[in-house]
Amino acid sequence: MRSNSHLLPLCLLTAVLLSQVCSGIKWLALSHTPASLHVNQSHHCKLLLGLVPSQAQLCRTNLDLMQTIIQAAQEVKKTCQKTFADMRWNCSSIDIPTNASKYRPDLDRGTREAAFVYALSAATISHTIARSCSSGDLRLCSCGPIPSTALEPGHRWGGCSDNVHYGLYMGSKFSDAPMKGKRPGSHANKLMHLHNNEVGRQSLRAALVMKCKCHGVSGSCSIRTCWRGLQDLREVAMDLKTKYLSATKVVHRPMGTRKQLVPKDLDVRPVRDNELVYLHSSPDFCSKNEKMGSVGTQDRQCNKTSVGSDSCDLMCCGRGYNPYSEKLVERCHCKYHWCCYVSCKKCERTVERYVCK
Ligand SMILES: *[C@@H]1O[C@H](CO)[C@@H](O)[C@H](O)[C@H]1NC(C)=O
Ligand SMILES: *[C@@H]1O[C@H](CO)[C@@H](O)[C@H](O)[C@H]1NC(C)=O
Ligand SMILES: *[C@@H]1O[C@H](CO)[C@@H](O)[C@H](O)[C@H]1NC(C)=O
Ligand SMILES: *[C@@H]1O[C@H](CO)[C@@H](O)[C@H](O)[C@H]1NC(C)=O
Repeated sequence: MRSNSHLLPLCLLTAVLLSQVCSGIKWLALSHTPASLHVNQSHHCKLLLGLVPSQAQLCRTNLDLMQTIIQAAQEVKKTCQKTFADMRWNCSSIDIPTNASKYRPDLDRGTREAAFVYALSAATISHTIARSCSSGDLRLCSCGPIPSTALEPGHRWGGCSDNVHYGLYMGSKFSDAPMKGKRPGSHANKLMHLHNNEVGRQSLRAALVMKCKCHGVSGSCSIRTCWRGLQDLREVAMDLKTKYLSATKVVHRPMGTRKQLVPKDLDVRPVRDNELVYLHSSPDFCSKNEKMGSVGTQDRQCNKTSVGSDSCDLMCCGRGYNPYSEKLVERCHCKYHWCCYVSCKKCERTVERYVCK
């Protein structure tokens, strides 16, 4: 295992040189943590890549939590890529390399994409912690509180609610840490990231819903026990994608006695609590531009019949597309045999697919 002691000076140096925030999402490099590393001793915290000093401190005082946070880093990556599979920007920049010299800070530039990634990361970390509490994986928390509101007849509170309160508390400590204190970086970027982290957590609060299970003789459902459970992360990500599409461009301007983020084009109003904000416009992601975090859409699959963002017109930016055929093997002519198995044949089907020129 390599030590990450070389990360900090590099982080400070790039932050000073580029006058940028020392990234608030470098902790996503945790997704590369080898499965063989069980973080159960404080010196293990040194082996975790991408943590800023205050996050490493949280690691030492909350060892229990780290396995959950490593899992969250993996979830963020997977969920972001799934959610953006039909977009020109397909979340390609989220794979934070473990080698600091290969880190490309395009998600620290304060773009709309950065807004989404920060919000999703903050929501995911709290989601994962809240779930770990209710599944009994953590020592310092357990089920969420039983609500005091009364339920309809036939329903009663029971079961184990996801502990969103604890998830939000510990999650925000961890995800906001890089932007807090005297860390280098521009004030505007820090405000943007902190705001978007909070938007992510707000989406998570809204994803806490009542779930019920039937009891009674052979599923008669005469009694239901209910608890408060979180929707899947995928739902939260879709909500944040909607907010990404309608995100607000802001500028850093004096408002009263302090400089704050305010909407750039609209009439004077404060930034709303539920909108994602960004400082810099993004490229169109049509062509390759590494510095801007764009890998381009050449060779991306597109959908000829779709009218959405994955349509060949939009995805390929008007460059056109090449067809190719793909053979699909499916189960078919299935037959039930008494008793008790099903046999099927294999059928081949050829489908047309398209990739951008
Ligand atoms: C830490 O975890 C490893 C692997 O599960 C285990 O072998 C070891 O005994 C643990 N150490 C402590 C101090 O709990
Ligand atoms: C990181 O990458 C650079 C450039 O590719 C390489 O020279 C260096 O040896 C790598 N460092 C580590 C610790 O792997
Ligand atoms: C994103 O698009 C690039 C460029 O076409 C491609 O190489 C990469 O595999 C895609 N990533 C995902 C997760 O689909
Ligand atoms: C293409 O888009 C159409 C319309 O949205 C959809 O019904 C179809 O499943 C898509 N095809 C693929 C291969 O994703």
